Amino acid sequence: MKNLTRRRFGKTLAGTAAAAFASSSLPRFALAQMASPASRQFPSNFVWGCATAAYQIEGAVSEDGRKPSIWDTFSHTPGKTFHGETGDVADDSYNLYKEDVKLLKSLGVSGYRFSIAWSRIFPDGTGQPNEKGLDYYQRVVDELLRNNISPYITLFHWDLPQALPGGWQSRDTSKAFGDYAAYVSKHLADRVGRFFTTNEFVCFTDLGYKNGQFAPGLKLPDAQVNQIRHHGILAHGMAVQGIRANARPDTQIGLAENATVYVPVIETREQIEAARRATREENAPFLAAVLEGKYTDGYLQRQGANAPKVEAGDMKIIGSPLDFVGLNVYDPEYVRADSSPDGYAIEPRPTSYPHMASPWLYIGPEVIYWAIRNVSEVWKPKALFITENGCSSDDVLTADGRIEDTDRVMYLRNHLSNLQRAASEGYPIKGYFLWSLLDNYEWADGYSKRFGIHYVDFKTQTRTPKLSAEWYREVISRNAVE
Ligand code: FCB
Repeated sequence: MKNLTRRRFGKTLAGTAAAAFASSSLPRFALAQMASPASRQFPSNFVWGCATAAYQIEGAVSEDGRKPSIWDTFSHTPGKTFHGETGDVADDSYNLYKEDVKLLKSLGVSGYRFSIAWSRIFPDGTGQPNEKGLDYYQRVVDELLRNNISPYITLFHWDLPQALPGGWQSRDTSKAFGDYAAYVSKHLADRVGRFFTTNEFVCFTDLGYKNGQFAPGLKLPDAQVNQIRHHGILAHGMAVQGIRANARPDTQIGLAENATVYVPVIETREQIEAARRATREENAPFLAAVLEGKYTDGYLQRQGANAPKVEAGDMKIIGSPLDFVGLNVYDPEYVRADSSPDGYAIEPRPTSYPHMASPWLYIGPEVIYWAIRNVSEVWKPKALFITENGCSSDDVLTADGRIEDTDRVMYLRNHLSNLQRAASEGYPIKGYFLWSLLDNYEWADGYSKRFGIHYVDFKTQTRTPKLSAEWYREVISRNAVE
């Protein structure tokens, strides 16, 4: 006994308890543990996919007329990214996209979410379009369709053309984004049925302009940051309108948003209600504004003199009706009911709370269920997609070339179980895009954090499926999580 660690001791106790239980009432216990396969099924036509983003995978930063984005500038600025790493080469997917489509094909996915680099299409952000840039995406789309994989295009995943004066500080950038979205949809909507406007407002507004962690690396005061946030959501609305005017009547439009997800500390009516309130109020500058076409009273009061300057007509544009909402879901926040005027309090995490390889990536698989349930109950969107979910782990290549990422499989299995719960309860969840198809450039973390289900040797560009790829292929082929 003296050599047993506390963990092993616990395991032994549990084993003893289970054995005792088993001898008395095995059938009920066993039934509860082994959910029947049918109960873990996903709806038919559920879209299984993978997600990537242009700057994280394409490389080829000066090929075929592309001009720099703010991420090129930022990553080339000393001290901004891990070991000064840049997306200059990344996964070289600009040249290797056919190989990447093969990876998708071998997983059996029916959808691929990727983003377009704005500065390949309009190298200066506005003005003359660059046909060679558009040609590249035409080739990617055609290759996907040849393989029966539907393209899901994100128009903006943070790589803002450097040439746009003032970046998101300028309202003109919102207008430029609307024009770019209109142009792309006009040329691709014959073969692309779904567009996402922007990816994760808070990351390209607050992280870029408030705490300086992301491009362009500024630290501005609140009033300016709130204005930048406003330009971000206005850009989204202008893009929705630009796409509607140029695409086809049945083109579907949404956004990919990392709304903060509030998990009730325990599942009681009171705590669930607290989670709903927090969902609306804490996401007020972004998702609430987009889905309601207004800022909440609470947000405007809290910001006071720093509230954004809103021009006539802006909120109507921002609230343009959407066909679906995409949610990027990674980590939970826990909330409980209290007697404050808002009716809720956010719980700090215990220091022992577990996380994946990225220190910010706290593990709480129920987050995916509550993301869907909270958003559905607060705003009743027509349809939802999980547009990102996945994790970093310290993947190591074994001597015989395998990557046994059991921790990633654990993370995914638990999240998909909770996703299945949401689907089985009837929430309108239509698909899931795993982040990410392959290891790639993880922004300020450079290449130090691997999120792929395919391992990439960044020197040779060799792609190797990890255990998690094998596992995901099984999920897709059974349309069920075991
Ligand atoms: C999300 C980003 C995506 C990737 C994952 C890990 O916030 O949208 O590009 O970096 O996190």
